Amino acid sequence: MARHVCPWWLGYWLVNPLRRLLENPREILQSFVREGMTVLEPGCGMGFFTLDLARLVGPSGLVVAVDLQERMLAGLRRRAARAGLLQRIDIRKAGPEGLCIGDLENRVDLACLLHMVHEVPDQAAFFAEISAALRPGGRLLIVEPKGHVSQPAFEDSLAMAAQQGLIAVDAPALRSGRAAVLIRAG
Ligand SMILES: C[S@@+](CC[C@H](N)C(=O)[O-])C[C@H]1O[C@@H](n2cnc3c(N)ncnc32)[C@H](O)[C@@H]1O
Repeated sequence: MARHVCPWWLGYWLVNPLRRLLENPREILQSFVREGMTVLEPGCGMGFFTLDLARLVGPSGLVVAVDLQERMLAGLRRRAARAGLLQRIDIRKAGPEGLCIGDLENRVDLACLLHMVHEVPDQAAFFAEISAALRPGGRLLIVEPKGHVSQPAFEDSLAMAAQQGLIAVDAPALRSGRAAVLIRAG
């Protein structure tokens, strides 16, 4: 089924600093990220969350940021360079065949899907790729916008993830969205 993908020009609006008043990336992410981690962030857009992920993993960590749209990635590249964080971010373009993360098999400590799962048409294949990249016991944080994604639709996505061995273990209360933490079963 075709899904609406966020247009690239909305990427500028999504990195508007005023958004931090409603949704502070550091506050949302800091309990999940430790220095030295490898973090995967598909659907990074222009990097509203990516820059804080890069600060949290520190100089010994890595954020692999993936998006379908080159113009989103160009915005991220510019912002990361300005912040002096480019070396901690591996920026990749997803293709029709998927996220292009086969080289990360069993290596990712944490994956973050932030306001993007509702745009993915084939969620079974998508979660299968993420599950393969996570190390056993690795965690997946999903946040979806309450305005676009109903609770039943959110639960359908979690059920799809469970079929790929990603088990929901927590539902953090966030002002800005529906959220779940999943663990890759051993
Ligand atoms: C609503 S934007 C959110 C961007 C960012 N996470 C944020 O919260 O600011 C969704 C992003 O996911 C990307 N996207 C959608 N489907 C994708 C897919 N299958 N693989 C990678 N990126 C995807 C879009 O290009 C867009 O940049």
